[in-house]
Amino acid sequence: MKDATNLDKKMICTDLDGTLIGDDFSMYELLETLEAQGILLTFITGRHLPSVIEFIEEKETPKPDACICQVGTEIYLLQGGELALDMQWNEIISKDWNRDKIVRLLGDIKELRWQDEEWQTRFKISYFLRENQPEVLKEVNERIEKSGLEANIVYSHDEFLDLLPVKSGKGEAVIYLSDKFDIRTDAVAVCGDSGNDLDMFKAGFKGVIVGNAYAELKNFEGDNAYHADAEYSAGIIEGLKHFGFI
Ligand code: GLC
Ligand code: MG
Repeated sequence: MKDATNLDKKMICTDLDGTLIGDDFSMYELLETLEAQGILLTFITGRHLPSVIEFIEEKETPKPDACICQVGTEIYLLQGGELALDMQWNEIISKDWNRDKIVRLLGDIKELRWQDEEWQTRFKISYFLRENQPEVLKEVNERIEKSGLEANIVYSHDEFLDLLPVKSGKGEAVIYLSDKFDIRTDAVAVCGDSGNDLDMFKAGFKGVIVGNAYAELKNFEGDNAYHADAEYSAGIIEGLKHFGFI
């Protein structure tokens, strides 16, 4: 994939649930446009790879050039038609990550409910936390800080709380990927709808916030962010046109 021609390439990194997914008609229009214009496509999601593959097969979408799963903790690159795990990324993010200690540290906070085992990985600790409980989020942040442990704490969709290696998350993953693919920062556009997408906007990429976004992301203000009126993929198209990207 690392190839000098990529220096002229553009890439879009889009979240799936609530962003690309929600309006099939516009989704196919967007995917066709990207393909026709030779724009690289990356899916970036909280889902795991089998669940993304299920989506690709069910909707018969093209395979993306890369797929960033589990909230930026796993990167898969399209190689010989298959999405293959990038082990180098795992090595990078494993630094300063102490999963077991964090799980023990937060174990007695009763408002945190453990997600199913399929969503717990070596690099992702995931809880449910009902909305409007800022005091619990504050407690989590304070405990982590006092302990000297490091984590990227991500709250999204008004119900999910993820703790990730501090060097991971959607923003760091897109920085790593654009570097790996030799794509200029201003030739990358990111798209999202919730708090776990915030990292990508903070990283300074051109970004589209779809019209149906949660307040967690909707409240983000930055010169690089475009707030679309349209929802889901129609919002992505609106934003990419605004940036002259497509
Ligand atoms: C996805 C994952 C879940 C995570 C959430 C938010 O829904 O399944 O584990 O907490 O995204 O990132
Ligand atoms: Mg989403």
